Amino acid sequence: MKKIVLTGAAGRLGSYLREPLTKLCDTLVSTDIAEDIGTPYPGETYMQADLASLDDMLRVLEGAEMVVHFGAFVDEGPFEELLGPNFIGAYNVWEAAHRHGLRRVVYASSIHAVGMYPKTECIGTDVPHRPDTFYGLAKCFAEDLGRMYWEKRGLESVHLRILSCAQVNNARALGSWLSYDDLIQLVTRSIDTPVTGFSVVYGVSNNDRAPVDNSKAAFLGYRPKDNAEVFAEQVLAATDPLDPQDPGHMCHGGPFAAVELGNSGLATMNVIDDRKTT
Ligand SMILES: NC(=O)c1ccc[n+]([C@@H]2O[C@H](COP(=O)([O-])OP(=O)(O)OC[C@H]3O[C@@H](n4cnc5c(N)ncnc54)[C@H](O)[C@@H]3O)[C@@H](O)[C@H]2O)c1
Repeated sequence: MKKIVLTGAAGRLGSYLREPLTKLCDTLVSTDIAEDIGTPYPGETYMQADLASLDDMLRVLEGAEMVVHFGAFVDEGPFEELLGPNFIGAYNVWEAAHRHGLRRVVYASSIHAVGMYPKTECIGTDVPHRPDTFYGLAKCFAEDLGRMYWEKRGLESVHLRILSCAQVNNARALGSWLSYDDLIQLVTRSIDTPVTGFSVVYGVSNNDRAPVDNSKAAFLGYRPKDNAEVFAEQVLAATDPLDPQDPGHMCHGGPFAAVELGNSGLATMNVIDDRKTT
C-alpha cells in the first residue's frame, strides 16, 4: 500500500500504532491536533490537522488507501464538547475518505456504544446499540455512518469496539483488557484482510473473563495472545467487595455506565499514561 493515514497519532494508543503501521505502507501520514508527535519513524510524516475541519481532513487523506481513525475527545463530557471532534470529526473522515476514493476506514469504536448491557450477558458484535454516555453515542453514530457509507457508497470500514486498552489495575480490566500487542494485531488484521465490508469486532485480549463474543468477526483472523488472568491474584487481593447494584460494576461500560451524562467517566479510573515516546 502506498499511503495510510493515522488520526489521533499523538494519543496513547496512536503512539503504539505508529511504528507498526509504517511497515504496512510506503508512507504513513500521522495526524493529530497536537503541534508535533516527536521524531517521526522512517516512512512516517506528520501533519497537524483538526478533525472538526472537513478541509483539514480532505488535505490529510488525499492519495491514501486507508485511514486508521483513532483521534477523538476520549472521555464523557458535555455534548457540545464532543460534537466537533467525535461526531462531526467522524463525518469529516468518512466524507473525505469517500471523496478521495479510499478503500477502508479502520475505526476506534468503543465498548461504550453498548455499555449499558449487563456484564452477565455475553454480547456479540450484532447486538443493538445501547450507549452509556454522549461519548458512547458518538461511537454509535460513527458505526452507523460507517454502515451507511458501505451500503450506499461502497466504502469499507472495520469498527474496533475497544474495551480497555490500558494497564490492568482494577477488577473490570480482568475481562476488558486489550494489550498493546493485541491492539497492533487487531489493527493489522483490519488492514490486511482483503475484504471486510462493514464489520464490527471487539478489541479485547484473550482474557478468561472476556465478557464479549467475537465469533461473528472470526473471518478477520484476529487471534489475541495476551490474557489478563496473569494479573488476577494481585488485582483481586487489592479489591474491596464491590456493590452489585452499581452499574459501574454491573454493566459493560464500567464507570461510564454509572456517571451522569456529561460528567467525566475517566475521572475515577486511574488510567496510567504509558504512551510510547519517540
Ligand atoms: N484507551 C482505551 O482504552 C480506549 C477504549 C475504547 C476506545 N478508545 C478509542 O481509541 C482512540 C484512541 O484513544 P486513546 O486512549 O489513545 O486517547 P488519547 O486521548 O490518548 O488520544 C486521542 C487523540 O485524539 C486527538 N484529538 C482530539 N481532538 C482532536 C481534534 N479535534 N482533531 C484532531 N485530533 C484530535 C488528541 O489530541 C489525542 O492525541 C479514541 O478514538 C478512543 O475513543 C480507546
